[in-house]
Amino acid sequence: MGIALVTGGSSGIGAEFARQLAARGHDLILVARDQARLDAVAAELRTPGREVETMAADLSNPKDTDRVAARLADTAKPVDILINNAGYGLKTKLVNPDVAEHDDAYAVMVRAVWVLSAAVAPGMKQRGHGVIVNVSSIASQLSMGGYSAMKAWVQTYTESLANELKGSGVTVTALMPGWVRTEFHQRASIRGSSIPGALWLDSEYLVRECLRDVDRGKVVSMPSVRYRPLSWLLRHLPRSTVRTISRRISLSRSKAASE
Ligand SMILES: NC(=O)c1ccc[n+]([C@@H]2O[C@H](COP(=O)([O-])OP(=O)(O)OC[C@H]3O[C@@H](n4cnc5c(N)ncnc54)[C@H](OP(=O)(O)O)[C@@H]3O)[C@@H](O)[C@H]2O)c1
Repeated sequence: MGIALVTGGSSGIGAEFARQLAARGHDLILVARDQARLDAVAAELRTPGREVETMAADLSNPKDTDRVAARLADTAKPVDILINNAGYGLKTKLVNPDVAEHDDAYAVMVRAVWVLSAAVAPGMKQRGHGVIVNVSSIASQLSMGGYSAMKAWVQTYTESLANELKGSGVTVTALMPGWVRTEFHQRASIRGSSIPGALWLDSEYLVRECLRDVDRGKVVSMPSVRYRPLSWLLRHLPRSTVRTISRRISLSRSKAASE
């Protein structure tokens, strides 16, 4: 069935990709910073017939990203599926002259997606098959700071890469999650209670729908009928209205955080 490499494979959406890809019969390589958490997921998924490798790597560090890229480029042990999933929400405002948090986030959510895809794509193209999934967000359609901008990059990049690889047998898909119950919000100090209950998705459903879209060769995967009309509206409303909606969500979050 081949090897799948999942970045951010120790938690949330990435761990769920690992579980479902294992259930489909793939061997796995899990990448994240925390070795103990990687080991826990690996122990859960490793069976006599299934290999699960772990790579502790901080994708904000170019040397670590290069190490993962070298593994992806190793045609002796080809990787057939790459899930570029590692990422997190940002707390720093754009007007803050200290850009350290944005620098790191750019390295993880933009640069690493590019470097890792570029490392694996040539071999996939040569072999005539492969899957790349890049996790974007519905936030890419809003104007909510550096996070929105980076996730918008992920979507545009993914569609461009899909164009370059069209007809090669390699599929490229941008996953556009809405709000998903993971550690994401807690890590970003976003109060879950500020998000309407009906909009929450669970990662098991999100990943199952995404893999179904991947099987169909869809370039953009937006699971749930709850989000598709919302996304359509965001694409068709005047941008000034989208900015107002974005500002209101950001303000309600800052209020919730200061309470
Ligand atoms: N949850 C949502 O509502 C939602 C919505 C839209 C998009 N997304 C996107 O979905 C993806 C997965 O997020 P999640 O919700 O599953 O959050 P999560 O539960 O917090 O998982 C994030 C994963 O990324 C890894 N990671 C973070 N920084 C890293 C770094 N510098 N280097 C390597 N790995 C790193 C984490 O492991 P370590 O901390 O051990 O490194 C963890 O495995 C992200 O790209 C996020 O932007 C999430």
